Amino acid sequence: MKFFIDTAKVEDIKKAESLGVICGVTTNPSLIAKEGRDFFEVIKEITTIVDGPISGEVKATSETAEEMINEGREIAKIHPNMVVKIPMTLEGLKATKVLSKEGIKTNVTLIFSANQALLAARAGATYVSPFLGRLDDISESGIDIIRNIVTIFDNYKLETEIIAASVRNPIHVTQCALAGAHIATVPYGVIEQMTKHPLTTEGIIKFQKDYKEVFGE
Ligand code: E4P
Repeated sequence: MKFFIDTAKVEDIKKAESLGVICGVTTNPSLIAKEGRDFFEVIKEITTIVDGPISGEVKATSETAEEMINEGREIAKIHPNMVVKIPMTLEGLKATKVLSKEGIKTNVTLIFSANQALLAARAGATYVSPFLGRLDDISESGIDIIRNIVTIFDNYKLETEIIAASVRNPIHVTQCALAGAHIATVPYGVIEQMTKHPLTTEGIIKFQKDYKEVFGE
């Protein structure tokens, strides 16, 4: 399983990039709004930090296929690594079909069922983003949906890649990897949590103590 970072916060993207563990970035309108900066300005900056797929979502106010297609074309022009993120609606599917046929990469987002993922894949989506955490939030098993999507895509040899999204903790990450998601998009905090284990911390302290006792500082 590969990792993307799920943020529009440039400092976090730089920190994750320096670790060598991420190969892409996902953003959404809420994450862009949180930074309070112009969409195109932030996205352009991100393209200079990470050399991999960068998802930029169509504006939350774009509801028709035509609006999403026009906006998607502008997003695609920013950089060859751009992926146009499109919400899972009937209009979104139409836009996915048109943009995919033009060779523009798409990421169909706000996926909460296996059927939605299957439709998005058939419309030509490069990626689908099932939201694990938000399903868990409403007492539905997010990981079950991801497992089902993996099985269905395998059954029919679909090339669309699954980006496990709304990943909130390290257990989610392990579950997604076991389920066979191609990618997990995670906030920087989750990457940091994944590096930690109390026995690692304890081991480092012991190594330092033992070393210093014999060799000094
Ligand atoms: C995915 O592409 C979304 O940007 C994101 O993962 C949503 O996460 P949240 O449910 O924690 O907001």
